[in-house]
Amino acid sequence: MAARDVWGSRTAFVLASIGSAIGLGNLWRFPYVCYKYGGGAFLIAYAICLLVAGIPLLMLEFSLGKKMSNASPGAFRGVHKNLEWFGWFAVGTGFIICTYYSGIMSYCINYFCYSFGLSWGNTPGEFFFDEVLGITNNPQKPWELGAFKWPLFAGVLVAWIWIVASIWKGTKTVGKVVWFTVLGPWLLLIVFVVRGVTLEGASQGLSYYLTPDWSMLWTINPGAGQIGAHELWLAAISQVFFSLTVGFGVMIAYGSFMDDRTCIVKNAWIIGIADAMTAVVGGFAVFGALGHKAFLEGVDVAQVVESGPGLTFVTYPEIINGLPLPELFGVLFFTMLSLLAIDSAFSLVEAMSAAIKDKFGFTHARANLTVAGVGLVMGLPYLLGSGIHWLDIVDHFMNFFGLPLVVLGTCLIVGWYYRASRMRHFINERSEGKIGIWWDIRIQLIIPAFIIFMLAFEIHERLKAPYGDFGLRSQEVVFGWAMLLLVLLGAVALSVLKGSKEFQQRQPASSEEDA
Ligand code: TRP
Repeated sequence: MAARDVWGSRTAFVLASIGSAIGLGNLWRFPYVCYKYGGGAFLIAYAICLLVAGIPLLMLEFSLGKKMSNASPGAFRGVHKNLEWFGWFAVGTGFIICTYYSGIMSYCINYFCYSFGLSWGNTPGEFFFDEVLGITNNPQKPWELGAFKWPLFAGVLVAWIWIVASIWKGTKTVGKVVWFTVLGPWLLLIVFVVRGVTLEGASQGLSYYLTPDWSMLWTINPGAGQIGAHELWLAAISQVFFSLTVGFGVMIAYGSFMDDRTCIVKNAWIIGIADAMTAVVGGFAVFGALGHKAFLEGVDVAQVVESGPGLTFVTYPEIINGLPLPELFGVLFFTMLSLLAIDSAFSLVEAMSAAIKDKFGFTHARANLTVAGVGLVMGLPYLLGSGIHWLDIVDHFMNFFGLPLVVLGTCLIVGWYYRASRMRHFINERSEGKIGIWWDIRIQLIIPAFIIFMLAFEIHERLKAPYGDFGLRSQEVVFGWAMLLLVLLGAVALSVLKGSKEFQQRQPASSEEDA
């Protein structure tokens, strides 16, 4: 087999994986999901899911990639030759996420420009929804698409060009780029946290964030308009996966570039903890700001804003307004957010194009341009007036259904078919820290059982109340499922296409080196 790209150094591998994990998921998605699902209770569920599922799965993905020396489709094909489609399904889910992720990046890039004049003024909420998005929020007319926002398009274009440029030279540059994209943002985040928690009234928000309402963790039927425990747990586990970039084939591809001496166990822990810390620490800034807003308006923290994908673009500008030299901090903040986002986005493009290169023997440039081109076009609908609404729906379906299904499949395939103990031995062979039998139990039993339960409850509730709390209309539910089905069909189609000679000749990893 041709030599694979390997990371320039071991630190580069860790940084690239951290770069993939830490992104908008931490500072954009985590706060609004946490806010929506009850603050403190969500935080507890999140921590448990991270330890029980997130970090063990990170180990699994790294080792699967390393073991099979292939990106996701080839790696699953290595387990069984009829499982290639599953690998494509994982990358496909990530790809759909990437199409709207670049939309959020475009908001960041636009906000970078707005920061110079503090364009959001004293009403960041109205500015965001009315002026930046030109939102059409008419429940009677879900198909009212609204105007196409050209400034957002410019932002998306910049995002994609930037993504492709960052990975143009493969893993060698990725290793260097991430030094800036990971370490720089942390310094700035600290400033925002300090400002957020010292705003007047912040304590109210922080107590919502840090004081769990325990009963939320087990009350499945809390009554109309409340959040059931199954939904809270599903939101928590999918946020963990989303944030760690687990279940998208990305960490499989990154694992396949690992050198032989990289400690899988230790690195999974470092990455998992660093990622969670970024989200949780960032949460202090956001909840401080929410408390401040609640204080000013004399309302309850839980009611102060409508939680959704717009939250970050409302709360952070408010924090910025309260800082000395707000323009400077605005510019720095949105630079940071874009930097965090870029390495998450390119990790998926990298995983997708590694898969295409592995299978079809495309050149690096051709693979990247294809992925970026298709991604750009598929992201255009999110730039319409109704865009953020569709973004929310796609995000919900991909993360509440697609992602758990991918992880469930991964656990069943690797845990039972390939056998968890076999993978554990492989991990332990190349790790200083060893993992024990508990790892097998999580992969084989706990995680699958957990996901099956949550999904069953969620689907059951959805069938009972199709117009549920999300205010989803039936067309939108159909749209969400159709989207998932399309990803599945696309995955099957890609797996059926004939690959390069080298790829076709790959044999399932038999017992070669399982001594
Ligand atoms: N982990 C990334 C973050 O926290 C988000 C992410 C997960 C992602 N999967 C992705 C981004 C696929 C783009 C494509 O921001």
